Amino acid sequence: MSDDKRFYLTTPIYYVNDVPHIGHAYTTLACDVMARYKRARGYEVFFATGTDEHGQKVEKAAHAKGETPLELADRVVKRFQALWEKLNISNTDFIRTSQERHKQAVQKMFRTIEAKGDIYLGEYEDWYCTPCETFWTETNLLDGNCPDCGRPTDKLKEESYFFRMSKYQEQMLAHIEANPDFIQPKTRRNEILSFLREGLRDLSISRTTFSWGIPVPDNEKHVIYVWFDALTNYISTLGYPNDSDGNFNKFWPCDVHVIGKDILRFHTVYWPTFLLAAGIPLPKKVFAHGWWTVEGQKMSKSLANVVEPNMLIDKYGVDAIRYFLLREVPFGLDGDFSHSALVHRINSDLANDLGNLVSRSTAMLSKYFKGELTTPGEATDIDKVLQDKFIRQIGVVDEQMEALAFNKALQSIWELVRAANKYIDDSAPWTLAKDDNQRERLGTVMYNLLEAIRLISLLVTPFMPETGAKICTILGIDPKDQQLDKHDTWGLLQPGTMVEKAAPLFPRIET
Ligand code: MSP
Repeated sequence: MSDDKRFYLTTPIYYVNDVPHIGHAYTTLACDVMARYKRARGYEVFFATGTDEHGQKVEKAAHAKGETPLELADRVVKRFQALWEKLNISNTDFIRTSQERHKQAVQKMFRTIEAKGDIYLGEYEDWYCTPCETFWTETNLLDGNCPDCGRPTDKLKEESYFFRMSKYQEQMLAHIEANPDFIQPKTRRNEILSFLREGLRDLSISRTTFSWGIPVPDNEKHVIYVWFDALTNYISTLGYPNDSDGNFNKFWPCDVHVIGKDILRFHTVYWPTFLLAAGIPLPKKVFAHGWWTVEGQKMSKSLANVVEPNMLIDKYGVDAIRYFLLREVPFGLDGDFSHSALVHRINSDLANDLGNLVSRSTAMLSKYFKGELTTPGEATDIDKVLQDKFIRQIGVVDEQMEALAFNKALQSIWELVRAANKYIDDSAPWTLAKDDNQRERLGTVMYNLLEAIRLISLLVTPFMPETGAKICTILGIDPKDQQLDKHDTWGLLQPGTMVEKAAPLFPRIET
């Protein structure tokens, strides 16, 4: 397999002091769709996710519950893993920062950068926001509170190891300027460029005030700063530094780190400068998506409005949720979750447009041909228009997927669904069926429809794997034999195939 047929993508690793909600599900889901799409396009994919388990925040949360931090982590990790299974997430690995393999990687990174002379011991005094695990200068604070979350900060003075981040300011600026796609979307890139132009300070990368973390090599009084620790997951999951399975060599540099907009700076300044110092190539792209509010409000425990994905999946089905989250909001912008919007999407796009297309078409084939596909006759103009539109649109969807424009890709696929529904209305099979001389034409119309449905099933599979497989089975094909890069041309359905009359794919939801 050539290098360009490999793809490595990551989700952030999730804190274990919180249980998974719709925001976490969103990042992971977007990555899953991309991973499935790339596999369908013939790529060997490494899709990494996991949990961020160290730090004062987790230590505090554990103590409050009378648990050790590891007990807390073990318990919460299961919730994440169970949710990913339920959401049909196809991750390659699940890294926990409490694992020995990860500790090895973090300590190796630390040693490598230290050996280069870019880590030194000093003293730290600044304002610390524990919930955000972030230090702020006096001028950053808003009325003495954290500028990100608004909560109170504590003044901390401690001996600390520092990373010479300031040394890399120019190099980072030059990299971002020379690689316009490195940070996406563009607005985020501008945000980071202006941050860098203001100058970089050296970064405190160890703590002595708590112990739940990875010790600094040869100075166990210090634990390594949780972000230095967490960001290294992107290479520890690949087997850095020993690389016994060869994955680091094979998949690094990463094709895309998908993150939320709140953790942009860590991924586009801290992480790349650590890598520059360690002499490791930089990731190719960091894509920051927006945040979900709920019924117009910020999601928060105190408002008791946290949307719990398990409950949504039980109520509406996993594919409906997968579809909704990626269709509703342009990837990169903020969005609002509301039950009415969800129900509207399910009823109009899934039950009406897609569901009806499949049930109408298979019902007609069953009625007119006892479910058997016939050999299509010569293509008429409207047949050619339909075929051309499908072939062209597959290319459009490909470009949109490459740009992580999931909502646009779904819109493009739904243009095909609507074109196929319109083809039924325009060719009026029920009229053709009344005339024996039109038997071949009727067979051609039915063939074209089912071929259109086959291509739609290929395109929706990364978004809705169960639905895609269900449609294939209805069409008498084994879903395993359908792969986008090999089967995206028109006319592959075999005449003589028996097609099932489909039960509704998505029942309408009564409000
Ligand atoms: N542990 C760090 C990431 C370390 S990566 C080396 C972290 N964890 S988190 O659990 O707080 O957040 C993980 C992801 O969930 C982030 O990308 C964040 O943007 C995303 N979301 C959390 N709440 C969200 C919404 N309400 N909406 C969309 N995404 C949100 O940060």
